[in-house]
Amino acid sequence: MHVNKDIRYVGVNDHQIDLFEGQYIVPNGMAYNSYLILDEKVAVMDSVDANFGEEWLNNLRAELNGRTPDYLVVQHMEPDHSANIMQFAAAWPQAKVVASAAAFTMMKNFFGTDLADRRVVVKEGDTLSLGRHQLHFVAAPMVHWPEVIFTYDSTDKVLFSADAFGKFGALDVEEEWACEARRYYIGIVGKYGAQVQAVLKKAAALDIQTICPLHGPVLTENLGYYLNLYDIWSSYRPEEEGVMIAYTSIYGNTQKAAEQLAQMLKAGGCPKVVLNDLARCDMAEAVEDAFRYSKLVLATTTYNGDIFPFMKEFIHHLTERNYSNRTVGLIENGSWAPQAVRIMKGMLEKSKNLTFAEPSVRIMSALNADSEAQLNALADALCR
Ligand code: FEO
Repeated sequence: MHVNKDIRYVGVNDHQIDLFEGQYIVPNGMAYNSYLILDEKVAVMDSVDANFGEEWLNNLRAELNGRTPDYLVVQHMEPDHSANIMQFAAAWPQAKVVASAAAFTMMKNFFGTDLADRRVVVKEGDTLSLGRHQLHFVAAPMVHWPEVIFTYDSTDKVLFSADAFGKFGALDVEEEWACEARRYYIGIVGKYGAQVQAVLKKAAALDIQTICPLHGPVLTENLGYYLNLYDIWSSYRPEEEGVMIAYTSIYGNTQKAAEQLAQMLKAGGCPKVVLNDLARCDMAEAVEDAFRYSKLVLATTTYNGDIFPFMKEFIHHLTERNYSNRTVGLIENGSWAPQAVRIMKGMLEKSKNLTFAEPSVRIMSALNADSEAQLNALADALCR
């Protein structure tokens, strides 16, 4: 596939995968992108997942059409992109491997060698000329690992952006970009908002006409749309006005309260209300929704002197990704000593700029007139 006159797509689609990075469901599979730049010198941008080495080498050979690569640029050492470096090195023994110093340390750890006789170590600001194409390396630490470099081709104004601007989903399945890009970003890179902000600032100084990420489609039009979403996500601002209600329920009483609150919010004119049963939904989708909307309600039971496990896991996912700048409502259920509100507040104590909507709601086993009145008051507070 041609990205442009000199740049070819040589990546692969994975429909065999059960869990990406060992935890994320990917109903539409996954793409591991790799690119080939054909110039006086030939550069390959990253490799692919271990299960697709042969397919990738065949894609490369087909597009090389008898030529020999001069360079393999390794932007990111996570194995979904680095697994076939040694296969490449064996197939083209003259080719040099270009990467950051941190990436070569990781190569030694993964493969037992840092390719000392054929490596080119690059850092922020370094360039590599392929002839017509000039590659500029941009350090992008923690997007999403510390060794990451982006590569900017100033000739064709292409940014090779490593994991940034990637999404879940193979490229032979049509789907909206934002939904699976958001779930990917929040889940995988969400903790590193400050580092993403830093690299977005560097990107703002470049004239970018094409983004070639390591997952998801090549982006060629309306790049402001994608850059704006990355700016919102990495600065922890809500993307949309709306309320996400996350609940756990053992016998259905907490669920009933969550559903009643949703109805009250809709009746109150709340623009968007989303419900997630944390025991049954995709946890990554629920985490994505929490970051997407401006308000969050957590409803759970007191359990073993703590809170129900799925809620505990959910809040942990939020706090480790710096959940902040939102309004949060709390609902607790307990048949003899409810304490979920206190525990949830404690778990969110270090989160910055959270406003707790009052009142929090206390249910003693099942909704009654008193707890329904509290629910109504919480709905009013959230609609305001
Ligand atoms: Fe797609 Fe961080 O690897």
